[in-house]
Amino acid sequence: MLDFDFYNPTRIVFGKDRLVELDTLVPKGAKVLVLYGGGSVERFGTLEKVTSALKEREVVTFGGIEPNPKYTTLMKAVEVVKAEKIDFLLAVGGGSVMDGTKFVSLASGFEGNPEELLACGFNPVPVEKALPLGTVVTLPATGSEMNSGGVISHNKGKFPVFSPLSFPVFSILDPTLTATLPPTQVANGIVDTFIHTVEQYVTYPVSAGFQDRTAEGILQTLIEVGEKTLADPDDYDARANLVWCATMALNGLIGAGVPQDWTTHMIGHELTAMFGIDHGKTLAVLQPSIWTLRKEQKRGKLLQYAERVWGITEGDEESRIDEAIGRTRAFFESLGIRTRLSDYGVTEDKIDDVVKALEAHGMVALSETGDVTPEVSRRILAHALHGA
Ligand code: NZQ
Ligand code: ZN
Repeated sequence: MLDFDFYNPTRIVFGKDRLVELDTLVPKGAKVLVLYGGGSVERFGTLEKVTSALKEREVVTFGGIEPNPKYTTLMKAVEVVKAEKIDFLLAVGGGSVMDGTKFVSLASGFEGNPEELLACGFNPVPVEKALPLGTVVTLPATGSEMNSGGVISHNKGKFPVFSPLSFPVFSILDPTLTATLPPTQVANGIVDTFIHTVEQYVTYPVSAGFQDRTAEGILQTLIEVGEKTLADPDDYDARANLVWCATMALNGLIGAGVPQDWTTHMIGHELTAMFGIDHGKTLAVLQPSIWTLRKEQKRGKLLQYAERVWGITEGDEESRIDEAIGRTRAFFESLGIRTRLSDYGVTEDKIDDVVKALEAHGMVALSETGDVTPEVSRRILAHALHGA
């Protein structure tokens, strides 16, 4: 096992009908900015429940944070924070609203040009104070509710932003709030959670028994509940398992002490920025191709994945790995997610642009060993076009 620090201060408040507890979770006397997305929380009554739970406080609202939240939109929220002298932020929504709120929290107290916060990559941003924030999760996918990162869109790029100050103070996870999600968003969330897990698991072995077994448990749970959550939005147990898997897949637990890849995510972000493909769908497109082309580097963990997650024990190594990749693709397709880049209207002549964007964003040494060069990314993208 590799050395690690593990720190996670977020309180999780899990279960049905717990929004009323906002009254005790948010400091008394705080002036609260409630941030949300394009209107789903208004349509389905969540915003109303949130504001009435906070009724003894002064509450200001800021709606309109779009999927893949934009820097320019978030800077408008920063103006509201300053003008209204806000002292607590509450995100009500999916990953985009939570990530956007983290950015608002950091940018509000930053003395310099907040655009600089987008240029730090995986290093913590140089911010010393940030507004405290809480979240109410309406879409299980990103794990943003219990981690310290966010992804912000700006000028045709997507930029990770990290700070230890960005952990939410609390997150309310009420699985019933996810019942209104359209099936395509549920499927995106299942795939995103699956890929978060394998980015930290299908690398190279370091004898991290707990992390491996926990990752395998998350993957198997997703396979068990995936189709059920789509078939019946009111199946509480299925939703509850999905919600908790999404949180646990990216809160630092399974990633502590193990190598991490993130190639799929970094190339995926360029596909979202360039073609507007949903985050989860970019991952479903890329993962089978990445494993197909990187079998040698990942052989040990791919064989472990084949055996422990899919129960594949027959045949030679090559055919076991191929079967595991095929079963993974079939799982994503069974959720209604297409897994070839050409399914999203992307053509071969666009690959060069994606590779250039990766270079422009410094994504030139990806993977757990840094050996995914722009040339390797090009081969991955070419394979993903019609991936077999
Ligand atoms: O905007 P509204 O109207 O609320 O609609 C949203 C949005 O259109 C809708 N929605 C959310 N909850 C709903 C609902 N519709 C009906 N009922 C509900 N209960 O769903 C749509 C998508 O929402 P979004 O927040 O964009 O989705 P997701 O949670 O998948 O977040 C994606 C963003 O998170 C980033 C991605 O890059 C992307 O920008 N990520 C953040 C990570 C993190 N912070 O750790 C890690 C991830 O890998 C990811 O990169
Ligand atoms: Zn993701």
